[in-house]
Amino acid sequence: MSGFGGVKLHVVSGKGGTGKTTVAAALALALAGEGRTVLLTEVEGRQGIAQLFDTAPLPYEERRVASGAGGGEVYALAIDPEAALLEYLEMFYNLRRAGSALKKIGAIDFATTIAPGLRDVLLTGKVMEAATRERRGGGRLYDTVVLDAPPTGRVARFLNVNSEVAGLARMGPVRQQADSVMRLIRSRQTAVHLVTLLEEMPVQETIDAVGELREVNLPVGAVLVNMVREPLLPLALLPDIAGGRIDTSDLARGLKSAGLDATDPAVSALAGEATDHASRVLLEQRERGLLQAIGQPSVELPLLSNSADLAGLYELARRLQEAQLW
Ligand SMILES: Nc1ncnc2c1ncn2[C@@H]1O[C@H](COP(=O)(O)OP(=O)(O)O)[C@@H](O)[C@H]1O
Ligand SMILES: [Mg+2]
Repeated sequence: MSGFGGVKLHVVSGKGGTGKTTVAAALALALAGEGRTVLLTEVEGRQGIAQLFDTAPLPYEERRVASGAGGGEVYALAIDPEAALLEYLEMFYNLRRAGSALKKIGAIDFATTIAPGLRDVLLTGKVMEAATRERRGGGRLYDTVVLDAPPTGRVARFLNVNSEVAGLARMGPVRQQADSVMRLIRSRQTAVHLVTLLEEMPVQETIDAVGELREVNLPVGAVLVNMVREPLLPLALLPDIAGGRIDTSDLARGLKSAGLDATDPAVSALAGEATDHASRVLLEQRERGLLQAIGQPSVELPLLSNSADLAGLYELARRLQEAQLW
């Protein structure tokens, strides 16, 4: 698998709760593990990155949260629409003082909460600014930006918002900014990855999101299947076991050899567990097939026993590196 080597902006979306933030962080660590300077950024005001790396809430400035092999580093930034708007006014209109006056009368709050389109323009604009920022003496400051993006239901609209702006503003700095955001987002320098589970709802949302992204010409990246469990039973036996056709004398022998009492209730409870497990694995196989039909590269990431610790995050990063997506 390859094809994301030239990607400067990795966008990570997915149904809420599938591990979008966790996988975005693991991806950032994986890229830093190869010596890159990576900016990991979030736009939903949740401070999910700070929680993951166990640091204080991120201010509106980049802060280093991890370092990788070969001099790689991960910086993190929580993009806040209000701060982005103030920065925008200052940058394009030299309006720093006007910005704080607007803030006092609540206009900034109004603009960033009432107009979701405007908010998304500000957020994507800031992402682009970070992705293309130059370091003193030339060259990109960050080799790669990883964006923990809005969930699947909103991601296509979010990324495409600047094309609406381009339709409204015919010229001037706003139009130029909108055009350059769309140029970056539509190019091969961007990939929109989708995190999913092997479950019906997230898989359906992934398929829908791929359709929406393709419809507006946004570059779909990899399907990242998270929280995958190892099957405990041989594949060939699954249909019988799922159908309740189980040799209970075999189960009784198994219980005894494990030093347990093979009472009838114990045997039938175990048979029930096996049936549930087999049905689930079969369902997962079906979902896997649906995901394959999307035709994008795919990586499976294991269900971690202790997801909350950093070691787990590094394990996911290692898996992503092994998958050689870039
Ligand atoms: N591979 C995994 N194995 C186990 N738990 C995971 C894994 N990935 C994520 N989690 C856990 O699932 C929960 C949701 O993850 P999070 O990244 O916050 O999801 P999202 O950003 O999609 O809402 C968190 O408690 C996280 O620790
Ligand atoms: Mg999240």
